[in-house]
Amino acid sequence: MADDLKKGLEGVLVAESGLSSIDGDAGRLIYRGYSIEDLARGTSYEEVLYLLWHGELPTADELESFAAALSEEREVHDDVLDAMERLAAADERPMAALRTAVSMFSAYEPENDADPEDLEATMRKGRRITAKIPTALAAFERYRLGEEPVDPHPDLGLAANFLYMLTGEEPSDVHAETFDQALILHADHGLNASTFTSMVIGSTMADIYSAVTGGISALSGPLHGGANQDVMEVLMEIDESNLDPLDWVEQATDEGRRIPGFGHRVYNVKDPRAKILQERSKELAESGNSKWYDITTTIEEYLSQEKGLAEKGIAPNVDFYSGSVYYQLGIPIDMYTPIFAMSRAGGWVGHVLEYQEDNRLIRPLSRYTGPEDQEFVPVEER
Ligand code: SDX
Repeated sequence: MADDLKKGLEGVLVAESGLSSIDGDAGRLIYRGYSIEDLARGTSYEEVLYLLWHGELPTADELESFAAALSEEREVHDDVLDAMERLAAADERPMAALRTAVSMFSAYEPENDADPEDLEATMRKGRRITAKIPTALAAFERYRLGEEPVDPHPDLGLAANFLYMLTGEEPSDVHAETFDQALILHADHGLNASTFTSMVIGSTMADIYSAVTGGISALSGPLHGGANQDVMEVLMEIDESNLDPLDWVEQATDEGRRIPGFGHRVYNVKDPRAKILQERSKELAESGNSKWYDITTTIEEYLSQEKGLAEKGIAPNVDFYSGSVYYQLGIPIDMYTPIFAMSRAGGWVGHVLEYQEDNRLIRPLSRYTGPEDQEFVPVEER
């Protein structure tokens, strides 16, 4: 009996999906049949959103109208901005602020009374959520800096506009393209914990705001999306220790510390997204400060080879290089996971739409291991 229990649903097939596929042995990721390498190098996040939600890459006209529809939905209600200001003053964590923002978005949703089975309406709601997350997140950060929010820039794409709303300055082409590529890489990834969370919520026919709020909650954990922030904090710890990175990581692993950004439930080899982010990190390092890239590659080399993790199937995942990329883009460290959520919201919406097309309430079993036939004693006699 014990072997039919799969803790963590490890290796358990629970759904079919056409959105993305991961080959953990080959280190391969595809979205709707396209390699992540082709998509990262040849499309924009808006194109990938369209691909995930509609099943095919858009024509130039389709992309223009889709991107325009997203851009028109970027404004968030003043009440949401007010809440971001209050949460910033309360020193709330950015992922919790984002969770609150998305939950509040629904109060101003024009189609709240739409039939839950109306998937077109759900997609329109998903588009509103995806368009508004950058605005709410950037506003939260501006309030933390004691600055007023920057209004969305109508002429910039989603990635460039987020960087613009963070600083009030239009980003360089290199920074905008790098950030857009990072959003593409994080958009979907099979049935990871946060996507599965969103699907469980969607399977009850609850609204898409609830599903995305649940996805944000799951992603915030250090074993999932929170690792990218942890990676940068480790790099900072190494830098401040004044130890040689090799000595630091040898000491850390001898103490049994797990290095964030390493290991994955599905990949047994280096995550293809990590390879692409490593290239971006190297390019940024060449035109800036190479310290973070150098420390990251030193750790990878030591853990993979000297420590032998590569042969154990433990290799860098998407979070390992995203830290040094985002840091070099000037993004605050505790905004890394919210950025992951900004991108993955597209995947969560896509999976809920797909699952609800042929919905089945998700309700697994557990094996009861508690006592049987207890004799009841009223509290006054206990
Ligand atoms: C993401 O699911 C997804 O697709 C997620 C994601 C996505 O796009 O949605 O790819 C994004 O969440 C990436 C993962 C981010 N998390 C981290 O980087 C945190 C550090 N990594 C881990 O804690 C761990 O690798 C997990 C949680 C990611 C996966 O853990 P599993 O599958 O439950 O594996 P495990 O904990 O059972 O470990 C298996 C072995 C163990 O060795 P043994 O004890 O069997 O000898 O691998 C070792 C672990 O000790 N191991 C590590 C390690 N991670 C696993 N050893 C050293 N350092 C690490 N980081």
